[in-house]
Amino acid sequence: MTLVLKTTDEDLQTAAHILADGGVIAFPTETVYGIGADATNSAAVEKVFLAKNRPHDNPLIVTVSDENMLWRFAKKNQRAEKLISKFWPGSLTLILPLISDELLPHNVTAGLKTAAFRNPETAATRTLIGLLKKPIVGPSANLSTKPSPTTAEHVLHDMAGRIDAVIDNGPTTVGVESTIVDLSVKQATILRPGIVTADDIAEVLAEKVIDPVGPISVAAGMAPKAPGMKYRHYAPSKEVVIFTKLDIGDLKKNLQKGDVVAALDDSLARLEIGRQDSWSLGETAASATEELFSALRFFDDQKEVKRIYVEGLPLQGIGEAYMNRLEKSAGGQHFESK
Ligand code: TXA
Ligand code: MG
Repeated sequence: MTLVLKTTDEDLQTAAHILADGGVIAFPTETVYGIGADATNSAAVEKVFLAKNRPHDNPLIVTVSDENMLWRFAKKNQRAEKLISKFWPGSLTLILPLISDELLPHNVTAGLKTAAFRNPETAATRTLIGLLKKPIVGPSANLSTKPSPTTAEHVLHDMAGRIDAVIDNGPTTVGVESTIVDLSVKQATILRPGIVTADDIAEVLAEKVIDPVGPISVAAGMAPKAPGMKYRHYAPSKEVVIFTKLDIGDLKKNLQKGDVVAALDDSLARLEIGRQDSWSLGETAASATEELFSALRFFDDQKEVKRIYVEGLPLQGIGEAYMNRLEKSAGGQHFESK
């Protein structure tokens, strides 16, 4: 049985007790929902891998309640302090060298001498970690390879019966996972794009930031930098195809039975496609990012759907993170008119 909790003081106390007893709980963040377990308890962390079907060579994010908790584990780092004062709590995960590799179990770090640290914006989750007085691991609360969950309903769809509880805080606001920046190397390097962009980071650090990930390098099959990037991700079981505004005329002529479309409102209007066959991504890149995983999950569950066309957006701002996830979901497949 998976308990559904809210963010009341009482429910957060219940959640903290479950975690202290070595249990596993899905928790909200502003990006996506995560699965938490006491990050210092190897047996509890093992349950997270089991619940997700996650391979063990993919290390986990360590979610902390505040900066003080971070410095119990990571070596002090000036660049990290600058980024933290600007972006924490928030959607930026920092890869930092550990004070000692004894501090975290092997299954959290996959044996690396670094770890990924995050301090989410969602206050209830920071309160929960504060109550536990220990960090919690925080991979996204989906089965491995599936799109990350942005609602408690998504979490239950994948995880009901596999975890002890979920804390329901309504839909997340960002919609894709945090930006990951590696500060354990000479030049700060983006390992996963998110709402905090390489330019945002470069501005705060006043230095050049390497951003080799991008949607294009992934599509071109470049060697992955974050250990987890080699795995198939965000992938519904249906075919996903990317189209752009330039394709709309051709796409309209080519739509077949079983085809559905997720797109910005003005594109849906031009396609004149029925409501039941479409999902609105709103009007902006931010709303599209917020809705992307919901759209993929919704259509994935519908038997009659064969192919999901999703609108591609320019690689500006959050558009880079949006296209990074979309390219992976689509396996690099773009619309070509026949
Ligand atoms: O927004 C998020 O970051 C969400 C929410 C729930 O916090 N969490 C999340 O976790 O996306 P996960 O486990 O799905 O992604 C963590 C990524 C993986 O790709 C992993 O390979 C990478 O971080 N990672 C973890 N530790 C690392 C390390 N020491 N060096 C490089 N990459 C690391
Ligand atoms: Mg994930």
